[in-house]
Amino acid sequence: SGVLEFDGWVKISIISANIMKTHVKKGYKRGSKAMDVAQKLIREHNLTREEFVELIKMADDPQVDALLADEAVRIRKEVYGTDVYTRGLIEFTNYCKNDCYYCGIRRSNPNAKRYRLTEDEILACCENGYELGFRTFVLQGGEDPYYNDDRMVDIVKKIRAGYPDCAITLSIGEKSYESYKRFREAGADRYLLRHETANDAHYRKLHPEEMSLAVRKQCLYDLKELGYQVGAGFMVGSPEQTEETLADDLVFLKELEPQMVGIGPFIPHHDTMFAEEPSGSVPLTLFLLSVIRIMLPHVLLPATTALGTADPFGREKGLQHGANVVMPNLSPVKNRKQYDLYDNKICTGEDAAECRGCLGRRVESVGFELVSDRGDFR
Ligand code: 5AD
Ligand code: FES
Repeated sequence: SGVLEFDGWVKISIISANIMKTHVKKGYKRGSKAMDVAQKLIREHNLTREEFVELIKMADDPQVDALLADEAVRIRKEVYGTDVYTRGLIEFTNYCKNDCYYCGIRRSNPNAKRYRLTEDEILACCENGYELGFRTFVLQGGEDPYYNDDRMVDIVKKIRAGYPDCAITLSIGEKSYESYKRFREAGADRYLLRHETANDAHYRKLHPEEMSLAVRKQCLYDLKELGYQVGAGFMVGSPEQTEETLADDLVFLKELEPQMVGIGPFIPHHDTMFAEEPSGSVPLTLFLLSVIRIMLPHVLLPATTALGTADPFGREKGLQHGANVVMPNLSPVKNRKQYDLYDNKICTGEDAAECRGCLGRRVESVGFELVSDRGDFR
């Protein structure tokens, strides 16, 4: 038995030596450095650009991911309890004068079947939504010249008058300071405008010549100045995105301090120049949700439809990584498939009540509760 014991020791020594070797080769040194950066993020709620790059490169390290997810969920519970806020999304027009290369409703896609809801249809969506418990309406559309400032002001005023206890959110793209001011005075409270990427060279690769990151950023600062609760954000895994461009996104978010941040994986659309590009990574999206929750503890963070499209349990996983908002669709079922930003979008066959019910169950399945509340930034 002495010999056997000796044998055992030798085996164990060989195994531990091998584990040490592989740790030193890829896991240990790399892991500990990333853990240092992750712990600094938790302590200081911020990192330098270089440290963000380093952290993002370690996003596939399960130890780092688990540490950040736990901390993100802890912070989210501390600030918002188990409440999950719901926003009723009304996709009211898919006409767009822009030509973003990634987007299915870009103006130069001749196959997009265009539609716009009438004012009465929009108000009917609000009525339906209100009965289902929604207290926030998000009017989202392409940059549609038909819906000029006068028409938008008119709609916002009508919703404001009919639903004084509801938040009105607009998501209709880049406008002048004056236009944003008019919408605000008409009763709009919030505005969603993703910056898409905070890196100039990367922005150029996703958008045509006539668009610019500088204008985009100016819009976001104008909106903040006018007292809107502002939502920025970006796609994860858009073509030519790198750890460095993502680090720029995080640095920009920390500087802007938006009340909301929408992120979801890039998903190719068959009628765009990016049709053959791979989808963005779900695990990386989840990792970034946790990082953003830690950076901006009070931020309103949706588990997006794109995340639910890329993974059947993407939204649930999002909630388990620090997200606290969901945005089910209130648009008429007849038009849902036409708001076709990317392929295989979920929820295009279900009506508002079905979506609300489905999401309520999904939210509960991971220990949270869908609440009827304006869900203001705290
Ligand atoms: N994949 C994922 N998200 C997309 N969006 C636009 N096109 C795509 C796509 N192909 C996102 C953009 C936009 C939001 C309304 O939808 O980030 O801001
Ligand atoms: Fe729309 Fe599940 S959330 S069907």
